[in-house]
Amino acid sequence: MIPLMKFTFINEYETKEELIEFIRKTSKFSMGEKCLEFEQGFSRFQGRRYSVLFNSGASANLALLQSLKNLGRIKEGDNVGFSALTWATNVMPIIQIGLNPIPVDCSVNTLNVMSNNLLATLEKYKLRVLFITNALGFAGDLLNIKEICNERGIILIEDNCESLGTELYGTKTGNFGLASTFSFFVAHHMSTIEGGMVSTDDEELYDMLIIVRANGWDRNLRHDKQIRLRKAHNILSEFEAKYTFYDLAFNMRPTEITGFLGLTQLKYLSQNIEKRNQNYQLIEAVIEKNSDLILISHEHISKLSPFATVIVCKSKELRDKYLYRFSGAGIEIRPVIAGNIQRQPFFKKYININVDLPSTDFIHYCGFYCGNYPELTDMDIETIISCLHKLD
Ligand SMILES: Cc1ncc(COP(=O)(O)O)c(C=O)c1O
Repeated sequence: MIPLMKFTFINEYETKEELIEFIRKTSKFSMGEKCLEFEQGFSRFQGRRYSVLFNSGASANLALLQSLKNLGRIKEGDNVGFSALTWATNVMPIIQIGLNPIPVDCSVNTLNVMSNNLLATLEKYKLRVLFITNALGFAGDLLNIKEICNERGIILIEDNCESLGTELYGTKTGNFGLASTFSFFVAHHMSTIEGGMVSTDDEELYDMLIIVRANGWDRNLRHDKQIRLRKAHNILSEFEAKYTFYDLAFNMRPTEITGFLGLTQLKYLSQNIEKRNQNYQLIEAVIEKNSDLILISHEHISKLSPFATVIVCKSKELRDKYLYRFSGAGIEIRPVIAGNIQRQPFFKKYININVDLPSTDFIHYCGFYCGNYPELTDMDIETIISCLHKLD
């Protein structure tokens, strides 16, 4: 069996040893200095000023939209464009926050929204926000997309849960918009078991994310900011401030274990990305030679950080045959994320829209993926490659 993921952590043995030691010594398990240290380390890695740690990537997405709403930068009923090929909890928060989700088609060649897809959507819909997903370690032509958003006053935010470490146009994915979200769930580029992050350079948004993460109170804000907020609301004593709730929020706090694991795994992140890249190059060389399959284009990407190994066949019939081969060889497989999101029951239940999404549909019916992670052995890669030779 080649599972989607073999271990929870990269360098699992060392990580568990360090975690045991941490648990033995620490007296505080609820959110504290390890979370803060991880946020600072992550900001340095990503090249952003601020990062806020959450208990999941889904929470990060929900908190980001709630924060923009609390700040009055978006309002109920605003149109939010999103990549039609994404994960459910990229879209669900758009609905939960009372916004109007507009799917944008994704290119078969890059698996992502390209600027021409965005322009086609903008012919029909006016968008307030574009919540783009950088899918599966790949990305669209983000510089052009950013330019279009800037020209038209569209707030660009990135769901980078699947593309941590990918680089293009001289920076990392997740640095093209106002803010970006990340997931540290098992099998992502780094794991804190469960965990997520929002990164941004915008101080006002950073402060609101901190409020939204924990009950709507001011306890985790910097002291001078607490004083300002309390003054504005006429909160006169520390006693009263303890239970004053300033805006709509959740409890999405991580624990110190999340923070500790984040710091540990951050040390191994580059090594993890490098190994995934090496694996992908070996597999890609075989895909390239097989005319049953479509090669995913990444010439515009200077550093690829593969999330999984995605296979897109030229027809559904071929896809079904390759699925059979992979399953027969004991390789665990999955659909390409949530496929065309419009086909998902939750979307049909709440959203009355039917956008033509021919390319995303093609990926939905003709694609699948298997795992790509550092612990794949030479034999595992051989087995995957043996399933990728052209069918007779
Ligand atoms: C694109 C995308 N967004 C959001 C999420 C949610 O992350 P989490 O599982 O940490 O809640 C995922 C999870 O895989 C994802 O792939």
